[in-house]
Amino acid sequence: MTNNEQTTVLVTGANKGLGLETARRLGALGWTVFLGSRDESRGRAAADTLLSQDIKVTMIPLDVTSDASVANAVRLVREHTDRLDVLVNNAGASGHAVPPAEVTPEELHGVYDTNVYGPVRVTNAFLPLLRASDNPRVVMVSSAVGSFAAITDPDQPAAKLHELAYSSSKAALNMITVRYAHALPDIKFNAITPGEVANHTFAATDMNHHTGQLTVTEGTDAIVRLATLAPDGPTATFTDRLGPISW
Ligand SMILES: NC(=O)c1ccc[n+]([C@@H]2O[C@H](COP(=O)([O-])OP(=O)(O)OC[C@H]3O[C@@H](n4cnc5c(N)ncnc54)[C@H](OP(=O)(O)O)[C@@H]3O)[C@@H](O)[C@H]2O)c1
Repeated sequence: MTNNEQTTVLVTGANKGLGLETARRLGALGWTVFLGSRDESRGRAAADTLLSQDIKVTMIPLDVTSDASVANAVRLVREHTDRLDVLVNNAGASGHAVPPAEVTPEELHGVYDTNVYGPVRVTNAFLPLLRASDNPRVVMVSSAVGSFAAITDPDQPAAKLHELAYSSSKAALNMITVRYAHALPDIKFNAITPGEVANHTFAATDMNHHTGQLTVTEGTDAIVRLATLAPDGPTATFTDRLGPISW
């Protein structure tokens, strides 16, 4: 078993918002944190903040839409460790909330490149390092709007938003999570949404212009819970901070 000092985690999109808070909280457990950021200067500033809190953190330049960037990130992480215990696929793009009748393939592609192809690209590239862990865990940061149950519930405010790219990208990510979990039973794959589906709440970040009702700490409760699963923990689940939610 690995102890806290030896546990390693890579968080994508960790220069701000939920990713940065995830990095901070897992780093506060004594873990070694690889802080992914597509912009080096923003990533370095975020890493410096965590370093000042005595967190063991290394900034990894990582654009999840680029094969070359992801390959370089694997190379950089390998300079520090031969094992990755936890991967948090957090980086996400909201797109422009275009309704179905007006959406373009370009809009879809931009959102899917980050939210769908990104987690697949990063997960597959890091599989050899994950397989070297004795309790590998992958957390997919999805969304309540990726839930068919939520979007077909007229009481959910999101059901009335006629948006296509972001919601369908997160629905795809949910299926991707289950397909990985079933295909790779030695690695735990779980999807989370940062909000509380039952209470129609989400976390205040730049992505929603800070209109969320929850803090980033509350918004990362589910991420941290799934990242810290014991070896006998579940796989192929979808949860929010209150517990399991419907797909
Ligand atoms: N806030 C919520 O309540 C909520 C609800 C449902 C789902 N989520 C999901 O939670 C995750 C984090 O979002 P957030 O709310 O923390 O929003 P945020 O503050 O806007 O953070 C998004 C992060 O993703 C990064 N990113 C975007 N495209 C990227 C790319 N191609 N490569 C690498 N990083 C990229 C951003 O980097 P830059 O700074 O360079 O743009 C930023 O670090 C997302 O997957 C989002 O869909 C959030």
